[in-house]
Amino acid sequence: MIKFVCAKDYDEMSRKAANVISAQMIMKPNSVLGLATGSTPIGTYKCLVERYEQGDLDFSQITSVNLDEYRGLTHDNDQSYYYFMNDNLFSHVNIDKNNTYVPDGTIADADEACKQYDAIVAASGGADLQLLGLGHNGHIGFNEPAEVFPKGTHCVDLTESTIKANARFFASIEEVPTQAYTMGIQTIMSAKKILLVASGADKADIIEKAFFGDVTPWVPASILQLHQDVTVVGDEAAFAKIIDKI
Ligand code: GLP
Repeated sequence: MIKFVCAKDYDEMSRKAANVISAQMIMKPNSVLGLATGSTPIGTYKCLVERYEQGDLDFSQITSVNLDEYRGLTHDNDQSYYYFMNDNLFSHVNIDKNNTYVPDGTIADADEACKQYDAIVAASGGADLQLLGLGHNGHIGFNEPAEVFPKGTHCVDLTESTIKANARFFASIEEVPTQAYTMGIQTIMSAKKILLVASGADKADIIEKAFFGDVTPWVPASILQLHQDVTVVGDEAAFAKIIDKI
């Protein structure tokens, strides 16, 4: 079942998404949180940090498993997702960093990196709540449109549109990695709950396609229609094409 929560703007979307994560953490203090990068969840992480600082949230028993990482970026590279997570969340709260996991982009052997990460996710017991952003082409994590839904962690060749979209974070497009390690669709779908955040008019088309179009691996997020517990929190601009259907 998909529940749509429409927020006025980015800030309200961030607060509402943080509400869902906070509720999960309060109800189950040792939750496994599946976490995401990208610009959309930054405000959500900010809210969580504020609530931690106010004494309302405790991360001490939380385990986190991140969705993806660029292949080849070292941990100290400020564009690596490892760096992003520390910078936006982990360094500001009382999470035990030994319990935070991001696929290891420094492992050159892709099979080994993916096998290791699948073992980590399995040992964690899987995500109680998986946070997701949404790519313009419908990707979740870095599961790009493809002929089939990939199951476990795998190495992907990023599409041109994804490389272009992410170039804004790099000095030049040539510096954007062309490959990434990402959790697979089966792993994402195994999360007990899913929370997808979307903001801005540029996400309106893909939100409609993903949640009201056909379920197809060519729109990876469309598989979420088959999950039993999905909450989509979006702002009015992102929901512009679905507002009269929800
Ligand atoms: C990136 C990430 C995704 C993210 C998506 C959207 O490439 N790998 O996890 O959800 O693109 O990013 P943004 O939130 O910046 O639009």
